Amino acid sequence: MSILSGKRILLGVTGSIAAYKAADLASKLTQAGAQVDVILTGAAEKFITPLTFQSVTGRRAYTDKDLWGDEAHVMHISLGKTADLLVITPCTADTMAKLAHGIADNLLTVTALAATCPLLIAPAMDGGMFDHPATQANLQTLQSRSVLVAGPAAGHLASGMSGVGRMLEPMELLGHIRIALGKKGKLAGKKVIVTAGGTQEAIDPVRVITNHSSGKQGYALAQAALDSGADVTLITTPTALTPPVGAKVIHVKSVQDMLDALLNESADALIMAAAGADFRPVNAAKDKLKKRDGIPQIQLEAAPDILKTLASQSGVAKRFQVTVGFAAESRDLLANASEKLASKNLDFIAANDISANDAGFAVETNRITLLFANGEKENLPLMSKAEAAEKIIEHIARLLK
Ligand code: CTP
Repeated sequence: MSILSGKRILLGVTGSIAAYKAADLASKLTQAGAQVDVILTGAAEKFITPLTFQSVTGRRAYTDKDLWGDEAHVMHISLGKTADLLVITPCTADTMAKLAHGIADNLLTVTALAATCPLLIAPAMDGGMFDHPATQANLQTLQSRSVLVAGPAAGHLASGMSGVGRMLEPMELLGHIRIALGKKGKLAGKKVIVTAGGTQEAIDPVRVITNHSSGKQGYALAQAALDSGADVTLITTPTALTPPVGAKVIHVKSVQDMLDALLNESADALIMAAAGADFRPVNAAKDKLKKRDGIPQIQLEAAPDILKTLASQSGVAKRFQVTVGFAAESRDLLANASEKLASKNLDFIAANDISANDAGFAVETNRITLLFANGEKENLPLMSKAEAAEKIIEHIARLLK
């Protein structure tokens, strides 16, 4: 179940052209299973209608008319008290000023004052307005009260100029919302390192030896760890994926790069989801190999086994309290996985059968068996990589307790 599933998000929309992005965000949150209640300010209604939000959330959207209606005296209290998170996006300089000074002159600002849940704002305004000392002072006041601030980003502004003032894109905001919701999760205060993707071993400046790993399972693990409140470092090879918001990303290519990156790190948990090369060219050619020189004979040598290297160094001061490996197998799944569990000194291993066309590399789903160092075994049914990641994170949290 995604972190957004069943969560109550109160979405405040203020008067900025970026209000159209809030409709997309409301739609994405709803699709992810959140209950989204929208409050529009009067200025927001000039840019977008309550109906737009009602259409994507399937729930009533509130406006200032509701502030003076029959249920008004309880509405702002109940909206603010039952929400898991209040998100104000786009948040204008005017609304920031009101929030900083406790001004409550419309349904949204009254609700913000009454709300007991965390508040996340995504400012959107012209660059000069954002830079203005008044706005900066309000920003500082809000941050000192633990208000979470996402953005603004630099780029093209509605004024036609460029600067810092753009509201973050909905996908990025979704990442900030997940972090806000996961803050007190079961891995709060813990550091998790995830490796992802297929390593690349250079043959010459343009060619590499790599594998079919897409990095999807590793990225899903990084997201699931963030959702649980962990501090996440993602060590990734080049992939087509966007790293989850909030992860510290270290880009690597070869097994050696990945090992070097890990030798500089320590964490509560290490999840080795990357598909590391087992063999690499002894020497990468300095210049591009040319056809006219004939078919090259490429001599290979063993690449370092990262997990075994780390295990051999652990000694008394184990740098990773819990270590999790993956076993990608096309036959003898459990026998091979148990051998790796023992030889790589892992706490548990996620074994997946890559011969099935609905599991393993590049696809969205995985069918995993977890084998634990104490001999326990858990068969996970076919599930999305995001769900498989959540299961693995649950076990890590249990082992770290
Ligand atoms: N792994 C590693 N270093 C490597 C290769 C793999 O640390 N050079 C890690 C992977 O990240 C994974 C685990 O070891 O967590 C098992 O990887 P896998 O490719 O299934 O097995 P190998 O150990 O490479 O063995 P084989 O290729 O013989 O199956």
